[in-house]
Amino acid sequence: MGKIAVFASGRGSNFEALAGVFRKSKHSICCVICDNPEAPVIEKAGSLKIPVFLAPYKGRKREAAEKDILAYLNGHKPDLLVLAGFMRLLSPEFIAFYRNRIINIHPSLLPKYPGTEGILQSYNSPDKTLGITIHYVDEGMDSGPVLFQKSFERKGTESIEEIEASLHALEHKYYPSIILSVLEKETN
Ligand code: GRF
Repeated sequence: MGKIAVFASGRGSNFEALAGVFRKSKHSICCVICDNPEAPVIEKAGSLKIPVFLAPYKGRKREAAEKDILAYLNGHKPDLLVLAGFMRLLSPEFIAFYRNRIINIHPSLLPKYPGTEGILQSYNSPDKTLGITIHYVDEGMDSGPVLFQKSFERKGTESIEEIEASLHALEHKYYPSIILSVLEKETN
């Protein structure tokens, strides 16, 4: 049986999608790591009885927050760290502890539109094909090796809300199964 730790800073819809699929598998989500005390994901995890570790970054160095997170994770020993809307860049030192075991999801077809404006930049681009990327995390911003991409063709008449909904629907459909398949390989 494998274990993942989910890192999230906000709404937590990807966390919910992961939790829904993991509940029916032999694997589990051992904890949620959150940097934002206001994040709706905290309540979502609480209602599923999944422990949340709150590691605020505000007012202290990133290294201090990461040190707390590493110590907490050490008690859970997750096989994979799964970033789902985690709005902090992990340091090279942190990544070294979990090299090739950190995965992220991004709402654009990387290497196009990395960073926090992936949806807006995709929407404002002349691109006809939009989509999502699931990738390993390296030291850069949304730059690690790609594991999976899924795209769709837009008509060009959609609102940004409709494009956003299409991107999230792809995320929720594919992130859990991709994570499960990586976990199967990691734990066999
Ligand atoms: C998703 O669009 C994900 O691709 C990006 O952050 C967003 C998180 O949404 N990294 P949610 O918190 O899972 O609803």
